[in-house]
Amino acid sequence: MIDAVLRDFSKWLAATELSHTIQTTGWIIPTLQTIHILAVAVLFSSAIIVDLRFWRLLQRDVPLADVARRFLPAIWPLLLILLFTGSLLIIGEPRRSLLNTTFYLKMTLLALALMLTGALQWSLSSAPEFWDKDRWRRIAGRFAATVSIVVWCGILFAGRWIAYTQAG
Ligand code: HEM
Repeated sequence: MIDAVLRDFSKWLAATELSHTIQTTGWIIPTLQTIHILAVAVLFSSAIIVDLRFWRLLQRDVPLADVARRFLPAIWPLLLILLFTGSLLIIGEPRRSLLNTTFYLKMTLLALALMLTGALQWSLSSAPEFWDKDRWRRIAGRFAATVSIVVWCGILFAGRWIAYTQAG
């Protein structure tokens, strides 16, 4: 049922004028992909710097809350760029993503990563010492940071994998 709806929707989307323009103008898809991947690079780096700070592997001499304040806010505007370029890529080739389980895996992981990032950002802005209060907090913080790294890497993997798992 959902599959049939997605098929019909993809067919309709692929026949729109915007999709046709994206499909037939040679430079649009490579440009969108380039912007997407540049935004991915900056967003991923920002998230990972904070995660590695939890493990005291980077920026050791800077308090965790300051590192988070410096790097995490950039994630949200970058996400808008990713949403914009990703949506245009979908409009250009709807079947590639909308009929692809890997794409939904990527979106599920993204929702998880954003909830984790939002929770870390919120905890540190409301109480800068939140993750340093005692040993258990430090362990919990490192656990959350490790989950975050795994989930962000999963998103990168799924993003790349879409090309190899598209419906025939
Ligand atoms: C915000 C919503 C997002 C949407 C709608 C979206 C959508 C897309 C689409 C449609 C593609 C093209 C896949 C293909 O045709 O092969 C793509 C590629 C990719 N995406 Fe996203 N994406 C989003 C966010 C992200 C995020 C947050 C990351 C990682 C942090 C990410 C990482 C990637 C990677 C690594 C690729 C492969 C690029 C390439 O091989 O050229 N995306 N994305």
